[in-house]
Amino acid sequence: MFHLPLTSLAAQLGDIDIYLFDQLLKGRIRKGVTLLDAGCGTGRNIRYLMQAGVKAFGADSSEAAIAKVRAMAAEVAPATSAKNFVVSDLAALPFADEQFDVVLCSAVLHFAKDEMHFRGMVQELWRVLQPGGMLFCRLSTTIGMEGKLQQVGERLYQMPHGPAWFLADEKLLRELLATLGATMLEPLKTVLVEQDRSMTTLVLQKR
Ligand SMILES: C[S@@+](CC[C@H](N)C(=O)[O-])C[C@H]1O[C@@H](n2cnc3c(N)ncnc32)[C@H](O)[C@@H]1O
Repeated sequence: MFHLPLTSLAAQLGDIDIYLFDQLLKGRIRKGVTLLDAGCGTGRNIRYLMQAGVKAFGADSSEAAIAKVRAMAAEVAPATSAKNFVVSDLAALPFADEQFDVVLCSAVLHFAKDEMHFRGMVQELWRVLQPGGMLFCRLSTTIGMEGKLQQVGERLYQMPHGPAWFLADEKLLRELLATLGATMLEPLKTVLVEQDRSMTTLVLQKR
């Protein structure tokens, strides 16, 4: 009997975030959609998507990351313009209102300097998303870690692996969702990484 090679999955999907992969399995990101990866890093979450016909854009505050993502895009989707990838803080995105069908923001928001910066980034992610579009965010929060982390400033916590991160709590997240008027496509899902951090996934639809 013929078996599919299990190893070909990694070759195809690369290092795509497993929770984003879940959204692919649910059919929420389709060929031809316009997608922004906000805080794209070197582009692990858009490599496969570009190969699958998604029109990807990226923003990151790191020039080195944007140089790498441009090189990756030139290799896997040569028709994509290098101008799709910009050096920018997420709190001031150089994109038009409602430009994107999908906005991804994975492992970025907990690098906020403070609550104003955090709120500013979320507002921008929402501004560039079109009504009916999906915002997928993964961020470290205090959910499930309440009382277990050392607080070193307003919503700033010393993480066991070294840095101090801005951690939203559930109350702040729920207040933001209510302010945005977002529809939750999934309940809040939080994974606890033992003795280290809590990672929450938000999957929202703009009305
Ligand atoms: C942990 S990496 C995650 C990269 C990518 N999203 C992923 O999942 O692989 C965090 C990225 O966010 C970027 N970043 C952090 N704060 C940012 C900000 N305020 N605006 C734009 N990019 C930011 C960093 O330069 C870095 O590339």
